[in-house]
Amino acid sequence: MCGIVGFTGTQQAAPILLDGLQKLEYRGYDSAGIAVLDGSGIQVRKTSGKISNLVEKTDGGRNTPGVTGIGHTRWATHGAPTDVNAHPHISNNGKYAVVHNGIIENYLELRRELIKQGFHFESETDTEVIVHLLEMYDQGDVRKAILKTAARLAGSYALGVLCADEPGTIYAMRESSPLILGIGAGENYFASDVTAIVPYTKNAVYLEDGEFARITPDRIEVFDPSGNPVQKKISRISWDIQAAEKGGYEHFMLKEIYEQPRAVKSALEPRIRDGEVVLDEFSCSAKYLHSIRKIIITACGSAYYAGCASRYAIEQLCGIPVDVELASELRYSEPLLDRHTLLIVISQSGETADTIAALKEGKARGAKVLAVVNVVGSTVAKLADWVLYTWAGPEIAVATTKGYTTQLTVLFLFALSTAKRLGRIPEDRYAALVRALTNLPRRVQQALDMNPSIPALAKEYYRYRSMFFIGRNTDYAAALEGALKMKEISYIHAECYAAGELKHGTIALIDDRQPVVAVCCNREIEEKTASNIVEVKARGAEVIAVAFRGDQKILSLADHVLSVPKTETIFSPLVAIIPLQLLAYYFARENGCDIDKPKNLAKSVTVE
Ligand code: F6R
Repeated sequence: MCGIVGFTGTQQAAPILLDGLQKLEYRGYDSAGIAVLDGSGIQVRKTSGKISNLVEKTDGGRNTPGVTGIGHTRWATHGAPTDVNAHPHISNNGKYAVVHNGIIENYLELRRELIKQGFHFESETDTEVIVHLLEMYDQGDVRKAILKTAARLAGSYALGVLCADEPGTIYAMRESSPLILGIGAGENYFASDVTAIVPYTKNAVYLEDGEFARITPDRIEVFDPSGNPVQKKISRISWDIQAAEKGGYEHFMLKEIYEQPRAVKSALEPRIRDGEVVLDEFSCSAKYLHSIRKIIITACGSAYYAGCASRYAIEQLCGIPVDVELASELRYSEPLLDRHTLLIVISQSGETADTIAALKEGKARGAKVLAVVNVVGSTVAKLADWVLYTWAGPEIAVATTKGYTTQLTVLFLFALSTAKRLGRIPEDRYAALVRALTNLPRRVQQALDMNPSIPALAKEYYRYRSMFFIGRNTDYAAALEGALKMKEISYIHAECYAAGELKHGTIALIDDRQPVVAVCCNREIEEKTASNIVEVKARGAEVIAVAFRGDQKILSLADHVLSVPKTETIFSPLVAIIPLQLLAYYFARENGCDIDKPKNLAKSVTVE
């Protein structure tokens, strides 16, 4: 929800903190701040609005000198996005500064207690209790003060702490929120994710829940919750800096849309060898595989829609029933799962709070967990029994694109490999599907190239304030994701309906004031969706269809057709979504929306 960074070294800290915050801005962007330690104590600069406001306020960091500091970019939860509520928060005696990502659930009782003790609160945030607790527990040993403070906190946090008594030192701590340490030469860092530190170092240490680190320019010491030292492994970050830059595109979202052929290839290629799908990472025994009676897929948002879209492939190929459940629902539904249930958890970030809770619930009930995750070392990846990484590279735009298509790729690989291991797929069908999968990066590229008219189409339609998306079966799954893309970045109301459901209510809303986007890539039931197109047109709606190239029937019915190359029906959502992503992008652009950072959304939803 928020992004935090910390730096200690010999260079000026503020420009490095500001640069890191810019990389983390996708995590929250309603206010930001830095605290830097110079010879005279802690200097805090903060402001509401985007990081660019903070850059201006600090003259690019030049008016905040010092070689040690922490920074924060906020997505407000407790208290409005104002200057006062922006982090860092500072203790009453000016000795401690704190930045925080997460939520302190018991902050109200702590706040009452601290006010009774005479502490004065400046902000409405939950975070401010932390900095006053540090002052309360400070008896000359910062480590002890941090341990005592942490013991009082309930909830989730990644914390960065600066203490005026310890020049050159920053502290970092995590509990159920992402945090990574970066190891440089004579300088060290912490950050909410690797994008903030890859320009400076590729050596990283991942903290576990409850651990905290004391970081100086030459040393990183990690301790467990009792204060005992912990030896940590140094991991190598494989993402490069270009991957976190816009590379000439107007927006990260457009760049990430165009990266999809390569991203899908990265997810696919290492796992197809000599015509066989090889999923070494899903290393369960044949006995376990045959014991699976049911698969439950759980996730949030687009990751949930990836579950909806892959369900058909898994059920048809593996012959195992699949339920797809929203993680926020599953966690409170007393779900019926046991050791015969495989729980598939999908998450780009691996840090989505509801998804983590659903995973824990499933595990507690005896299910084994297979995670489909992009971010290496994330919480979902750590908690799962097996992890299939999507290898999409960093996704910066808040609205997911390559995150979603690589999730589909990996889930299709899973379906095919599992069907083969279970002996439920004939050899020739298997070979044909492996070929179709291998062709997917090329098909995605074709889908990108085939639709140069989308910007013009957006100019024609962008003023509409409401749209319908329809489709059946796999097309319905793709339409759900297409409608979400449209809503979240262009703020146009976009309602998605299973086409066959239109007549059960909503058809009354169809008229010439809302265009209908009809996805028609499922050849088996195309006729049925074609009838729905006729029905909505009869009520005055204009229809933009997504169909396989050269589909004469749909060409003759729809007002506009977005073409995609032919592919196997069960894999078709992966190509059908491409023009829908572009459509949403260009509608949002025409509407002047902030595409990479849509209002009220954050990239990683680490609170419930
Ligand atoms: C939509 C979008 C969100 C995420 C959802 C889950 O474009 O990005 O709906 O898909 O918040 O996030 P992850 O996959 O990180 O768990």
